[in-house]
Parts: sequence; structure tokens; C-alpha cells
Amino acid sequence: MTDLAMPSPAPVDDVIFRPLHFRNLTVKNRIFRSNISGIFDNQDGSLTQTRINWESKFAAGGVGAIISSYVPVLMEGRIIAGYATIHRDEFIPLWAKLGEAVHSFDAKYILQLSHSGRQMDLPGVHNQMRPSLTSTSNKETLHGFLCRAMTKGDIEHTINAFAEGAWRAREAGLDGVELHAANGYLFTQFLSSGINDRTDEYGGCLQNRARFLLDVIGAIRAKVGSGFHLQVKLSAIDRNNVIPWEKKGNTLDETVQVAKWVEAAGADAIHVSSGSLFPHPLNPPGDLPLDVLAVTYDAMISSGVYGFRNFLLFRYPLLRPIFHWIWFRMKKGHPVEGVSLEEARAIKAAVNLPVLVTGGFQTASFIREAINSGGVDAVSIARSLVANNDLVKQWAAGADSPARPCTYCNKCLANAPKNPMGCYEEARFPSREAMIDEIMSVYKPRADMRIPLASEL
Ligand SMILES: Cc1cc2nc3c(=O)[nH]c(=O)nc-3n(C[C@H](O)[C@H](O)[C@H](O)COP(=O)(O)O)c2cc1C
Ligand code: SF4
Repeated sequence: MTDLAMPSPAPVDDVIFRPLHFRNLTVKNRIFRSNISGIFDNQDGSLTQTRINWESKFAAGGVGAIISSYVPVLMEGRIIAGYATIHRDEFIPLWAKLGEAVHSFDAKYILQLSHSGRQMDLPGVHNQMRPSLTSTSNKETLHGFLCRAMTKGDIEHTINAFAEGAWRAREAGLDGVELHAANGYLFTQFLSSGINDRTDEYGGCLQNRARFLLDVIGAIRAKVGSGFHLQVKLSAIDRNNVIPWEKKGNTLDETVQVAKWVEAAGADAIHVSSGSLFPHPLNPPGDLPLDVLAVTYDAMISSGVYGFRNFLLFRYPLLRPIFHWIWFRMKKGHPVEGVSLEEARAIKAAVNLPVLVTGGFQTASFIREAINSGGVDAVSIARSLVANNDLVKQWAAGADSPARPCTYCNKCLANAPKNPMGCYEEARFPSREAMIDEIMSVYKPRADMRIPLASEL
């Protein structure tokens, strides 16, 4: 259904549908599917037909490019087992099949190279009973995940793993890679003044804290050359004091400086996000359903030393106001749609690279204005596309916002540790059964979308 109340330009004149040219890549429009992790793959990191079905839903829906979920470059860098990895050459043909499926809808595929560092939600069999490796030996602050500071040898090994991961993505015929240097994962743990307490050349001043990221960019360029698209996702502001007594972490000015170094090191684009942990009150923006967490967070009780405490705060309604206060105090004064737009604008003004921004986008006229005003070159969208896989097609047909919008309830996020990814907002569906059918549709290729089977590619 389209909302004809709001006039919209014909796609041919509409900046949303104008191609975006990066140095090494052209994307047909300005809408990128933002990264969305989901437990769709095998324990050994090999990807499945289910993931091909999942990504194809968005490609069929009209996005210009898909930026993959978090893809670990090493088994010790996983967040949750069951997400596809890129740590073995044997997986190259599987990624190639996924790429071909997405390309068959004329969309591009950018693979997000990642490492959890200490932000490891569910260790899985490979990481059980051992602290994760990061910039510090101080435990993570929200769940209390334990960790150990990397040695120089560990750092070197990890830099090399990122370069190998980029090479495998290129060998698979994918269109580029993104370094997940946002949202509290390993790169953030080096970048953030609120987390990194090293005293060697990888800690201390901003230049030292950025060294690990810049070394990885250098290693990737050395391995794949300058002709392969490489973008970097950065949190514009850390706001690391979600737990009120923690340090605030990096400021916007510091991230602007990091973005300039990233450009000089050879990156092709910046993808702007927010926060030094994930989830964070401002990412994804919106609600936090503590009642849903009460039935899914038990999977994480033993992951960190604060897991049981958090579970009690979610489980008992009388205790929920405590967590509610901690979480919601930071949201005051921030919009949901375009929550990081002004920060992205500041970064764009300082670099000569295309800038993408994520956070709450769902209205065509708002996105048009963000791009036309020179604030950003494109937007990336996660939840509104989970709710409406064909959102881009709805805009092309003249709608300004979808008939059944994403409510930003974050129930998809709260279900992530245990259940398949999908929209869990029952109010958006005619019935609970209809909602479950839609979630489960990822397990069977949809004939109407002609999603190719991996065996046919
Ligand atoms: C369930 C879920 C999983 C996500 N997984 C990732 C991820 O793997 N990597 C990443 O960089 N961001 C991830 N994000 C963040 C999104 O890519 C996006 O930046 C954020 O949700 C804000 O955009 P939105 O308001 O359009 O959802 C995830 C978000 C959600 C809700
Ligand atoms: S559960 Fe559905 S409506 Fe709620 S935030 Fe996720 S996609 Fe949007």
C-alpha cells in the first residue's frame, strides 16, 4: 500500500534512486541494508542456504547493496556461534554462492569483517572457558565478559586474519568489505579512551589507539591492492558511560580525526554509527523490551560475571525500573529516525569520501532531505527493512513511509540470542501465527521471489 498524501519525485529524479559511485564500486541507489546478525549458519562457521534466503529477501526488495552481518575473521572473534565466518579458504565457494544470489537481484554485497574482542555474547564450543582477547584485561562493563590484553603476537596474528578475510571476500567475487570498527567490538576496544588502557604503542594517545585499525587497513591494502572496495564502520561518539560511573570514551572530534586517518590509509567510505557497546541506548534507537529479555537473556547468564544480575533485573518486574533508568536516561533529546545524522554530517564535512549513516531511517522524504542537504551520501537500514523487506519498492511506488512501519520496539534484537532473526512485533501482523510464518519463511526459499538455491548457482 502506498501513502499518496506525501508527493514524492519520480524515481528517475529522486536522489534516493540515484547511483552512488565509490572509488571502486557503483551501487544502484542510496539505500544499503545495514548489518543484521542472525543465527542462520553452522557451528563450524560455514554458511547455509538459510543465509542465502535471508540476504536475498532484501536484495529482492530493491536495496542497492547489502552490508553483511558480523562475519568473524577468526573463531576466537565470534559473538555467537551460528553466524557464518570467513576464517577458512574452504568457505570461499559458499560466500561466492551467496554473492551470486544477491547479484541476481542487481544488488551488491559488502562483507563485514569482524572480531568480538571482549564483547562475546555466547562463547560457543570454541571459546568456552577462556577469556577473549582484546586491548585490555578489564572486563566488559554491561555483562561482565572476561578478557585478556593481547600480546604483540596476538595483535599481529589478528591483523593478518583481517587481511586474509578481505582476500577471501575478494576471491569469492563479493563487492567489498567493511571493517566493523564501531559498536564496542575489537576495533572500538582499541580506539576508545574509555576501554583501552594499554601502555604500549597501541594505547594512550588517539594516534596509538587508532594504530590497530590503521594497521589492519594497511595489511588489507597490501594483500588485495587498492582496487577492492573497503569501508569502515565507526561510532561517531562512544557514550561509553551507559553504566553511569564508566568513562565517556571518544568524542566526535576524536572520531573526525580517526576518519581522516582512515581516509589517508586507503579506505573508500565511512559508515557512521554510535556507541562503544552493543546494544547501546542509542543503537539501535527505540525501545528495549525487558519482558522479552526476561525469556531470552537466560542464554547469556553464564557468559559474563554480571549476567545473572542482569537476568534478575529483566526477570522481576519490580526490579525492571532500575535497568530502565540506566538504559533510557541516555536517550533524552535524541530522535529515533536519523539518530546519528548530525554526527555523520560533521564527519562528511571533514573527509572526501562518501559517508553512509545508520539509525532509525524509515521515511523517504527524511532520507531525501538528509542526502540533498549534503549531510550524507546514503543511508543504511536494518530494522525497517526487517519489518518491510520491500520498503525500497514501496518508496519507488510513491509511498513516503510504509503502511505497517517498524515500531522500533527492538523485539527482533531481544530475540537474537535464542531465536531466528525476523520481526517479532505481533501488532504488525494479523495474528501471532502470521508473524511466526513470516519469521520462518527464511527457511524456505520463496518461489515468488525466485531466490536461487545454492545448488543451482
Ligand atoms: C538484530 C540486530 C542485529 C544487528 N547486527 C549487526 C551486526 O552484525 N553488525 C553491525 O555492524 N550492526 C548490527 N546491527 C546494527 C544495525 O546494522 C544498525 O546499524 C542499527 O540497528 C541501526 O539501524 P536501524 O535503526 O535501521 O535498525 C544489528 C541490529 C539489530 C537490530
Ligand atoms: S521487531 Fe519488528 S517492529 Fe520491532 S524493531 Fe524489530 S523489525 Fe521493527
